[in-house]
Formats: sequence, C-alpha cells, structure tokens
Amino acid sequence: MSKPKVFVTRHIPEAGLKMLRQKFNVEVRTAKAPISRAELIKKIKGKDALLCLLTDQIDGEVLDAADPQLKIVANFAVGFDNIDLEAAKERGILVTNTPNASTEAVAEHTLALLFAAARRIIEGDRFMRAGKYKYWEPELLQGSAIKGKTLGIIGLGRIGFAVAERATDEMGMKCLYTDLHRNPTFEKLYHGKRATLETLLKKSDFITLHVPLLPSTRHLISAKELNMMKKTAYLINTSRGPVVNEKALVTALKNHKIAGAALDVYEFEPKMAPGLKTVDHVTLTPHIASSTHQARDGMSMMAAKNIIAALSGRKPPTLADPELWSKRRK
Ligand code: DGY
Repeated sequence: MSKPKVFVTRHIPEAGLKMLRQKFNVEVRTAKAPISRAELIKKIKGKDALLCLLTDQIDGEVLDAADPQLKIVANFAVGFDNIDLEAAKERGILVTNTPNASTEAVAEHTLALLFAAARRIIEGDRFMRAGKYKYWEPELLQGSAIKGKTLGIIGLGRIGFAVAERATDEMGMKCLYTDLHRNPTFEKLYHGKRATLETLLKKSDFITLHVPLLPSTRHLISAKELNMMKKTAYLINTSRGPVVNEKALVTALKNHKIAGAALDVYEFEPKMAPGLKTVDHVTLTPHIASSTHQARDGMSMMAAKNIIAALSGRKPPTLADPELWSKRRK
C-alpha cells in the first residue's frame, strides 16, 4: 500500500518534517514566497493532509479541490483566521493549530516591544546610526517608567496570561484585563482586576492585545477606543493586525493622542497603513513574535503530531474546534 501523502505549503523547521517523513510521502514546496491560490488548488489534489501557514487562505473552494482522502488541514500557527472552519466542518475535514508551542516566545516578544516602546530603543538606535549623538543631554529621548504602571491586557488566554504573569511578578506592574471569563486564579495570584474595555482603556499605561481575530474583534481598537486612552499610554499588538484599525492608529499617533505603539502585526499585512512608517514613536517588527528556534521547532512538531494522529485515526492533540472530531470524514 502506498504511503499517505502530505503537502507542506512552505519550508518549516525540520523537526516536524522529520517526523512526517518517517511515516508519509511528504512534499514540501521550496519557494520562499507564499503559495498562490491556483497552485494550492492544484497541489491539494490527491493529498491526505495539508500543512499550511497563516499566509494561506483555506476556504470551501480550496477544500473542494481536494479529493475525499483529505483528512486534515494542520495550520502552522496558533491563530487560524486564515481557515474557514465552518467550511472544513461541513466537509468533515479536521483543522488543527499550534497552541502552547509559542506562548513563551510571543509573551517575551510582547514584553520586548513594551520595553522598546517605553524606553525608545528604536529611536535611540536610529539617532546613533544617523550620527546625531554629539553630547549627553539631560532630557534626551525620555521615556516612561514601567514599574508601578498599569498594564491593560485585552484577552487573558494563554499568551495574555504569560504576559501578565511576568509583568506583575517580575516587572512590578499592576494588571487590568478584559476577557469573556473571569480568571480567579489570576486575580488571586497576581492581583489582576477584570475591567470593562472602557475602564481598561482609560486607566492603563500600556495596553496589549491577545485576542483571536473574529468578526467581534475586528477593529476592536479604532478611533473611539484610541481617544479613550491616556495621552501617555502605549498600544502593543502581537495578536492579529485587523484587531486594530491601523489608519485610525496612524491618526492617533500623528496627533499625539497616545504616547506610542509597538506592532508585530498589520491590518493589511505585509503592507502598512499609509504614514505608519514615518511616525517616530512606533516600533515595528515583521510578525516575528513566535520566531525563536525553540518555538518554531515546537510549532513544527505540533503540526506533525496533529497530522500523524489524524492519519492514524486518532484525535489530533490540538483541534481548532472540538466539534470537528465528531464531524470528521471516516
Ligand atoms: C501564530 O501562531 O498565530 C502567530 O501569529 C505566528 O506564529
């Protein structure tokens, strides 16, 4: 009997590919740029599993191009807003993501952005490279203190919690959070307080976003919300770009409605909203929050584990939605 076929839309760390190659016939696309829709539609045919990235849009049309043997779409990311979950459910195809593997990495990058924004690290770097440092100045590039300040966490899931833990325990910050559910453990251990979005926006000195991209979270932060923030506050986004109305953010930054922002994700990624790159008080990174060797190896292995389970008739460890299992193709 021939081995099941797995298609990987772009090269990912070897750790997971090695696991897959031991069991399956694995085709890894070698091009550096994201796969086109036309190529994806061609390549998905005859495959038993698809390992895709957040840059691949997987919808009903793509899934219909697959043969009935396709069992699983394994996303190499925690977020799975690039996959039409309902379309997969209707067709009995499992969808998995890679939670846990990148929690620490994303939390650390969030805090790196917080420090960079508060202490104007990027502006200082640019200043040095431009040869502008002529003499020491008492008021040069003054930033904000961090200890004792309030961190507003929007979304206290795994990553939000990891950020909050470090911010309170190690950095001496106070925490407010919004979440669908109260988290008594967090409140007890770290003295965090659940707040309404409005209170959090008005009272926080740093605001960090950790929500998935859903219809309800698209443009969660727009002009109205930015106007509620303190003029001295900073916004950090390592979740998904469209959670913030980027045009409104550029306006708020230009008008000094807030002190600054630090972004790892963009509304129209990889593009930036007009004017964003000319704003000094914004720190920008290219969606690398989970990009440590450890996290990306972990994500690779997690995606492989999900595929191995699905193609062995077992429940994948990290299904995007538990309901998918009962609806799966047999
Ligand atoms: C994720 O996992 O969703 C990140 O955005 C990419 O690692």
